[in-house]
Amino acid sequence: MSVIKVAILGFGTVGEGVYRTIHSHQEELTAVLGKEVEVAAILIKNKNKEREISNAILVTDSFDEILQLPQLDVVVEAIVGKEPAVSYLKKAINSGCHIITANKEMFAHHGKELLKLAEDNNVSVGFEATVAGGIPVIQTLRQLLKINRVHQIQGILNGTSNFILTEMREKKQSFTEALLLAQENGFAEADPTNDVEGFDAFYKTMILSRIAFGEEPNWKDVELEGITTITSELIETAEKLGLRFKHIASISKEGSQINAIIKPTLVDKSHPFYHVEGVQNAVNIQSDIVGGITLQGPGAGMFPTASAVIEDLVFVCQNDTNNKISRPVANSFGEKKTELKEYWLVHGLTKKYLNTTVSFIQDVSDETYIINGTKNNVEQIFSLHKPLCYFPIIGEFKTLINA
Ligand code: HSE
Repeated sequence: MSVIKVAILGFGTVGEGVYRTIHSHQEELTAVLGKEVEVAAILIKNKNKEREISNAILVTDSFDEILQLPQLDVVVEAIVGKEPAVSYLKKAINSGCHIITANKEMFAHHGKELLKLAEDNNVSVGFEATVAGGIPVIQTLRQLLKINRVHQIQGILNGTSNFILTEMREKKQSFTEALLLAQENGFAEADPTNDVEGFDAFYKTMILSRIAFGEEPNWKDVELEGITTITSELIETAEKLGLRFKHIASISKEGSQINAIIKPTLVDKSHPFYHVEGVQNAVNIQSDIVGGITLQGPGAGMFPTASAVIEDLVFVCQNDTNNKISRPVANSFGEKKTELKEYWLVHGLTKKYLNTTVSFIQDVSDETYIINGTKNNVEQIFSLHKPLCYFPIIGEFKTLINA
C-alpha cells in the first residue's frame, strides 16, 4: 500500500495535536484515503527541547531539509505569525505539496496569493483550522455556497475571549485570572493581545468574508473592539438585565457593500449565542434558501484544532486541486435595507448629550442606561461625546422591557 507523507511545521499545541491524531486515527485515515498517512518530518525551533516524537521521524529546524525528502505530499503549518510561515508554504506549493494551515494571521494576510499559487501548481489548500477551532465552518460554507446565497454570518470566533467572559461571570474571576487559565489550557495565542483585543477574531472574520462573499471589506473600515473594556461590574449589570456579554463578529453584504463589526455585544436569552459558554465558538449563517443555521463547538485547544486539520488532510488528498467554491459568489445581494433600530447599553456618558434621533429607554445604574436607535444615529452622537463604552443588544430584548 502506498503512503501519504506529511510534514508538520511547529510542535506547539496544534502541531502536537495533529501528530498524535494522525497516529490515533491511522485506521480511519487509511480506510478513507486508501493509503497510510505517515508523519515524515517535524519542523521545530529548539532542537534541545524534550519531545515525545518517534525516532523514525526527521525532526529538524531546517525547512529546506524537509523539502529535500524524497517524497513529501502534504505540509501542515502550525506555527505563529506571517513569517516564516508564508515563505515556507510558498516553497511547499512550488515543490508540488498540498498545504494545510491553522495560522489565521498568516492566512488572512496571504490566503489569496497562496490559493492562487496553489491553483497554478495544481495543489490544494486546507484552512479549516483557521476559523472556529473544531467547527467545520469552512466545509459547511463550501457546501452551502454551491447554491445558497449567504448574506450574513455572525460568530463567536475567539475561544479565549468567550472563556474569559464566562469565567468572569460564572466564577467571579478577575480578567487576569481568567486569561491565565486560558493560557494554561492552551487556548490563548502566544501573544494573548491578539485574543483579547479582537485581532484573532478579526483575521478569522476576514477569512470567512472571503469564502462567503468572495472578497473582504476594507480592513480599515472594520469596527474592531476586544473584550478589555468589559469589567466585572458591567457583567453583573448585564446579568441583572438577563443579558450576557459575548464577543461577536458580524459580516453581511448588502448591495455591493460588505460590512463587518467585531465587538462585545449583549445577547439575550432568545439568541442562539446566549448559551455558548467557555471555550466554545458558534457561527450563525444566514442564507437565502435554508434560512439560518447555527454551528457550535470547541473553538480552541489541541484536539479540536487537530480535528479540523485532519478533516483538511482528507479534503486535500481527496479533492486534490479543488480550491474553489463551486460557483462564483453572487455579486448582488439586493438593495441596501433601511437601517433598523437596535437597543444599546451605554456606560459613562451623561444623558444630556442624547438627542432626538435616539430614544432613551431605561436607567440601569449610575451613568449606565439603555437607548434605542439606529447604528448610524447612535454612532453620530458618540463620535462627538464619547461614552466609556457602548454595546449593541441582540435577541428579542425589546419584549422583555415592554418598550
Ligand atoms: N487563540 C485562539 C482562540 C485559538 O482562543 O480562539 C484558536 O484559533
